[in-house]
Amino acid sequence: MADRKAQLTVDGLEKPLDLPVYSGTVGPDVIDVRGLTAEGLFTYDPGFVATAATESAITYIDGAKGMLLHRGYPIDQLAQNSNHVELCYLLLFGELPTEKQYSDFEKTIRNHTMVHEQLANFFKGFRRDAHPMAILCGVVGGLAAFYHDNLDITKEDERLVSAVRLIAKMPTLAAMCHKYNIGQPFNYPRNDLSYAENFLYMMFGNPCEEYKINPVFAKAMDRIFMLHADHEQNASTSTVRLAGSTGANPFACISAGIAALWGPAHGGANEAVLNMLDEIGDESEENIQRYVDRAKDKDDPFRLMGFGHRVYRNFDPRAKVMKETCDEVLGELGLADDPQLKIAKRLEQIALEDEYFIERKLYPNVDFYSGIILKAIGIPTNMFTVIFAVARTIGWISHWNEMISNGYRIGRPRQLYTGYAKRDYPTDR
Ligand code: CMC
Repeated sequence: MADRKAQLTVDGLEKPLDLPVYSGTVGPDVIDVRGLTAEGLFTYDPGFVATAATESAITYIDGAKGMLLHRGYPIDQLAQNSNHVELCYLLLFGELPTEKQYSDFEKTIRNHTMVHEQLANFFKGFRRDAHPMAILCGVVGGLAAFYHDNLDITKEDERLVSAVRLIAKMPTLAAMCHKYNIGQPFNYPRNDLSYAENFLYMMFGNPCEEYKINPVFAKAMDRIFMLHADHEQNASTSTVRLAGSTGANPFACISAGIAALWGPAHGGANEAVLNMLDEIGDESEENIQRYVDRAKDKDDPFRLMGFGHRVYRNFDPRAKVMKETCDEVLGELGLADDPQLKIAKRLEQIALEDEYFIERKLYPNVDFYSGIILKAIGIPTNMFTVIFAVARTIGWISHWNEMISNGYRIGRPRQLYTGYAKRDYPTDR
């Protein structure tokens, strides 16, 4: 498999070690370091900055070029020509569906949108003011207690049943979190609606009046789902894989992914962007500049939320599409003069011209714009990360499925131990 080798010379070892070098279809080559353990050595890579934890054929990111491919297709082409359900099929099965495959898959998703009636009781255990991500972690993990059939993860068809259940039920559960927060009755899913339309209906419909779905919002929602669908081995996907590598229940694994997504450095960033814009408040030039200066100050913990990315060292390709969608939604609502949006646009401009951000290649990321769109649609800030979780479910489940079908070992990193060496317990205390 490897036609090249890397040689590693280590002080104290008799001869250099030959390590195989593998090439992927595209992207950086990797050095197989597994042979090091036989020499009593490990690699040290906090934050997994230089570690390929697996082989995968789902998503490719070229951070320097600002490129994101799902099964080879560029995200901007998918966002332009496809929809979220088709993207789910592509990520899960590897190829675009034929017309028949699409309609069968779509129908299956529609037919699994309802959740077990008893799950509604689960919500009642939470305080009304609980963060919806806290509720979502609980209820998605709780699915493991409701769906006991088709859980033999060694069988592909049974894994697919869990995948379909998760893709179909996540919007229902997400909308239930919101309805519970605001004290309104839950809406049952409507299977005559598309995936994004149904989500908007479950979020905003109520029994007292007819809810009219705005097609611009439905399209924007679908785009938000698509643009967050997968991003290779990010923190939450790696969490799902690690949990899954123990053979854990798939619903529990996705619940672990939701927990990892919650942090402001990952999925929580879209919520953090809006909180930051609120905090900046005043749209005067001096005030905005003051916040940019704070972001550059190493002694100040303030960072520009929605800027920077571990992998992209160029414009995030998802941010480009999101920016267009943002303009469409705000145009539809006549909100181009919204003060928060003005702050966002000015912030973006200052940061893109500032030496600090240019030097470090810190560009606006997908969450910089998605938060603004979600707010314009009327989605409360605390639901932003929940929506990211709905979208990312397909990524998580596709990677989980790929890991199990390819054969895997339990994920078990090692460490550079810096604590005490062995010492005796003092018996004279
Ligand atoms: N504002 C100010 N400075 C920043 C920012 C920022 N948002 N992001 C990075 N930097 C600086 C950082 O201080 C460091 O400077 P120096 O080299 O002088 O020490 C340099 O840029 C490199 O940053 P890093 O922290 O080493 O980068 P990282 O790869 O560890 O972190 C990140 C990536 C996304 C966590 C970080 O850029 C960040 O915290 N951004 C804000 C949160 C955010 O928007 N997250 C959403 C990511 S996109 C959604 C997703 O995929 O989850």
